[in-house]
Amino acid sequence: MELLDAIRRRKTTNGAFLPDPVSEEHQRVLLEAAGRAPSQLNSQPWRFVVIENRDTIRQIARISGESMTETMSNGTFFERYKPYFRFSQAEMDEKRSGMLFDKLPAPLRPFTGQVFTRRGQTLMNALGVPKTLGAENRRLVEGSPLLLGVMLDRSEYRPGELSSFYSVFSMGAAMENVWLTTVELGMGIQFISFPMEAPGRWDEIVELLRVPDDLELMAVYRLGYLPPEQRRPAIDWSSSQRRLASQYVFRETCDTPQRGWDEQGRPA
Ligand SMILES: Cc1cc2nc3c(=O)[nH]c(=O)nc-3n(C[C@H](O)[C@H](O)[C@H](O)COP(=O)(O)O)c2cc1C
Repeated sequence: MELLDAIRRRKTTNGAFLPDPVSEEHQRVLLEAAGRAPSQLNSQPWRFVVIENRDTIRQIARISGESMTETMSNGTFFERYKPYFRFSQAEMDEKRSGMLFDKLPAPLRPFTGQVFTRRGQTLMNALGVPKTLGAENRRLVEGSPLLLGVMLDRSEYRPGELSSFYSVFSMGAAMENVWLTTVELGMGIQFISFPMEAPGRWDEIVELLRVPDDLELMAVYRLGYLPPEQRRPAIDWSSSQRRLASQYVFRETCDTPQRGWDEQGRPA
């Protein structure tokens, strides 16, 4: 596959994977791609833990689902991220960023305008939305054949020094390599970040994975092969929209937005 095709097709998988295990050869290729990323002074600050043990995956799935229910029902999730939620295509077309909640169960649709109010939160809780979403997230994680923990060598992350920025930037490059490689291999990938949002829950995962003190667990992903037909979860979003070049590229100085590219090769 051409690299540009892979870049254009790369996306986050919100739905289920096939139950088939990820072949060892594919695991090796994914981690080779990660290790090929650029890093400050070739320090390679990343470490990875590949998780296939069903019991460990079940436990992480439980923590993830519970964290989602908790942060959605106490409002912290919506409070933190409300600038990114879109509830109509018109809003998405205007902002060209964020997450468009374009699949909602019918009883919820009339209330999208109230999601961020106290009344809206009470209503959502009464309708059991956080519970439903948490249970769905738990099922999705539990049904994943492989989880990938991404760790940062703490000695490369020295707060107050440029090294901290460099090392995190390098981790991003490594993960993008993994993400792009999933496209080539017919796989999908999704970040499991709710346990980071709920106090204390990330530490449970750190303990489960026996992450040593000299490493920081930065992220956990779920991976697997994609089914031929992707069924969308009951509540789902899409985020394939991108800004126009004129909204994020400047020419020579930051005073001059790029002109003339918006009509060509416009991202979906
Ligand atoms: C740091 C970071 C955290 C993310 N956390 C989540 C997450 O918790 N759940 C999820 O489904 N996607 C997560 N994503 C994926 C983004 O939502 C996604 O990349 C973005 O909406 C663009 O969609 P796309 O990847 O399908 O192009 C995360 C991405 C990054 C880079």
